[in-house]
Amino acid sequence: MLDFAPETENQRAKIRQVITDAFGQTKEAELVDKIRNSPNFIPELSLVALEHGDVLGHILFSHIFMKTPEQILALALAPLAVTPLRQHQGIGSQLVQVGLSKCRKSDYSIVVVVGNPRYYRRFGFQKASQFGLHSSLPIPDEAFMVLELKPSALMNMKGIVCYPAYFNEV
Ligand SMILES: CC(C)(COP(=O)(O)OP(=O)(O)OC[C@H]1O[C@@H](n2cnc3c(N)ncnc32)[C@H](O)[C@@H]1OP(=O)(O)O)[C@@H](O)C(=O)NCCC(=O)NCCS
Repeated sequence: MLDFAPETENQRAKIRQVITDAFGQTKEAELVDKIRNSPNFIPELSLVALEHGDVLGHILFSHIFMKTPEQILALALAPLAVTPLRQHQGIGSQLVQVGLSKCRKSDYSIVVVVGNPRYYRRFGFQKASQFGLHSSLPIPDEAFMVLELKPSALMNMKGIVCYPAYFNEV
């Protein structure tokens, strides 16, 4: 039985380990530290998957600005990680679903993600460019996806999603 909860300070070392093991490098864990130390961090949207108190996975949603050209505050999902020995057991999907349902209860209306379309499509993410939205990051068009949390949130939202500089270092 898994629990899903906002991270606590004393879980941070374990979260770092899970992310580093999942990605096989430290860059994504460092990204989480940079986000935590920035005004874009939203503590209640940094979620862990727990089994008997042990951290098995982590997901983070943080603030991001879109220029449409009006400045709109949205959420960026990144990163998502599940400890290698427990991957392919649905933990990542549950983290995304629990996370998105928390996001839906918030005031935000749009979530963006950079990732594999095969994985994120199942949660309703769609290619962002079809809405006229592009990322400031140099990434393939199909990898940049968007999800509306409120009906019609993406209508007339053409523009650029401005990833903070620390994302360029990943
Ligand atoms: C991606 C990840 C978070 C998925 O978590 P998980 O608990 O293993 O995923 P689930 O069990 O919920 O879902 C498994 C599905 O995801 C697919 N999948 C797993 N890793 C994937 C990846 N990197 N890219 C695309 N699809 C992936 C599997 O093929 C499987 O698909 P299926 O249901 O059609 O067979 C996890 O594998 C992980 O931590 N990978 C390393 C880090 C990473 O790549 N993070 C994502 C980018 S931010």
